[in-house]
Amino acid sequence: MSASAGEGAAVTAAWDFSGPLDSSRAEDLESLRADLAAADYSSEGVEGIVGAPAFEALHAEQLAPGRLLLADFWAQEDRAAQVAGAEEDSLASASGAGERAEAQRRACAVMAGWWVFATPQPAERLAAAFPRTGLEGLARLGFLALEDAEAPAGASLRPLADLRPHEGDDIGLIWVASDLGSHYAEKALDSEYVLGVGQASLTLARSIVRTPARSALDLGTGCGIQVFHLLAHCDRVTATDLSERALNYTAFNLLLNADRLRLREVDGAPRVRLLRGSLLEPVEGEAFDLVVSNPPFVITPRNARTDSSRYTYRDGGLPGDRLVAELVQTLPRVLKPGGVAQLLGNWEIVGDEPWDSAPRAWEASARETASALQPSGGDADAWFIQREETDTLQYALTWLSDAVRTWDAGAQEAALAEYRDDFASRGVTRVGFGLVLLRRPRGPEDAWRTGSVFEEITHPIEQPVGPSLAAALERRAQTARAAAAGKAGELFAVVAEDVTEERHQRPGAEHPGVILLRQGAGLRRTCLLSSELAGFVSAADGELSVAQIAGALEAILEEEGLAERLVPEVLQLVDEGFLVLPAVEG
Ligand SMILES: C[S@@+](CC[C@H](N)C(=O)[O-])C[C@H]1O[C@@H](n2cnc3c(N)ncnc32)[C@H](O)[C@@H]1O
Repeated sequence: MSASAGEGAAVTAAWDFSGPLDSSRAEDLESLRADLAAADYSSEGVEGIVGAPAFEALHAEQLAPGRLLLADFWAQEDRAAQVAGAEEDSLASASGAGERAEAQRRACAVMAGWWVFATPQPAERLAAAFPRTGLEGLARLGFLALEDAEAPAGASLRPLADLRPHEGDDIGLIWVASDLGSHYAEKALDSEYVLGVGQASLTLARSIVRTPARSALDLGTGCGIQVFHLLAHCDRVTATDLSERALNYTAFNLLLNADRLRLREVDGAPRVRLLRGSLLEPVEGEAFDLVVSNPPFVITPRNARTDSSRYTYRDGGLPGDRLVAELVQTLPRVLKPGGVAQLLGNWEIVGDEPWDSAPRAWEASARETASALQPSGGDADAWFIQREETDTLQYALTWLSDAVRTWDAGAQEAALAEYRDDFASRGVTRVGFGLVLLRRPRGPEDAWRTGSVFEEITHPIEQPVGPSLAAALERRAQTARAAAAGKAGELFAVVAEDVTEERHQRPGAEHPGVILLRQGAGLRRTCLLSSELAGFVSAADGELSVAQIAGALEAILEEEGLAERLVPEVLQLVDEGFLVLPAVEG
């Protein structure tokens, strides 16, 4: 038994979640892993076969270009085989570097066709692409129906579950299993559908503050995508889900990729715990350094129809945006002092109200509850970043077509009407989407100076944005401590590397009318400066402290009280990353 299989055996007993895949078969897992690696079933491998444009088209869920190119690939292969009068070599029997490379391309083409491009594959091609696992092994693992394992050559076989490559700088190449997408079955998704790695999964993964941590929680883990990345920087990870089927996939994925995810035990205890239950119920009374969640935040009209066939992967079963509200209000309870929670969410916008009305109300209510429960700082600072806003009709259409591609007109109209009436019952006109970050202060001294932050940033931001959010948290804690100690003036600030200044001036004017600072990285904000603050920024080279520069400006401009007025504005520039504190950031 290999090292990873041994690790698997140590934890699978606790991971006995029923579902489509069987992760208790160490030898079959080992064989599958070896076949996938030998085929170079990676994004690069797949792109190498269908080309960049067809590969890129996958982002828009367009499979047709890749399917066409794969059909061409096999036509060419068949012609070449006829010319050579040779039978197809399997990867196991191929000899010589050229033949092995050819066999590798064929195996990768089979896997890409079967999973990525949702095309049934002939039994003999599958058998050749999986020489170690075999059709029987695929069936034992749950990827193939048992009767298909004995299908005659030429039979066209469909998989029962999806498996595709996922890469990250932190974890390298892994393979992630989930339910088959709707391209295979042109019908409504099953209500227990387990999502693969989607755009929202990646948006969250790229936003996570990845400082080393001892303990992390992934709430609503799905196929486990957030856990895989958490394992790269957290000693122990707890993953929860309401869906047993989701935990079945997570367990399988962890064990299939055990080596690359370094799933080995730390201090005698497994690094990952998988727990079934709703929201925080499975971890009641525990606290973590980091909590991440891509929760089932999709707003859904509540009625007997939507409740009886609830899409667990996206619908938390509560009215409107209550699920996100509840998480914002309760997550601080499971954060250690200094701990951070990050989640994605939707919020409803009523009438002409500003986008942040609901987030501000949730935040205020979370603080009230926290101070009632724990008067000395049991609450958290919140940072909401609204990334987009959608009108209610567009929102309804997007989510209705996400699960059902083939509506008949009457049913779609009825479902749209449910959405219209549901939104109207609360006066909702728009829906916001964004990132939420909650940070529990270590104590009153490092609670954010200006309280919670509500920002709308709809332009493209640097990705991954996680490192920039991590640096922002450091700076905010630093300015908070300095201000609390009355030492803000003693900080030394310099202009951040990515920041440029823009001055706009009427022709012939003596002074610029507009001075802007722009960030080239991170959240790529723009900030309008007063001429005094612009004077400060020009002098901020780290030689003089904040108080010294502000004092000098007050003297030069002969404006009494200027220094005192400038300091908080300068701290704001530090909080937002236009200025940085070299002593803190090293
Ligand atoms: C949008 S998916 C996120 C999956 C994965 N974490 C990702 O980032 O792609 C939401 C997950 O939350 C789970 N879920 C739904 N209701 C839940 C609840 N009340 N408590 C915990 N998890 C829940 C679903 O089963 C699903 O796996």
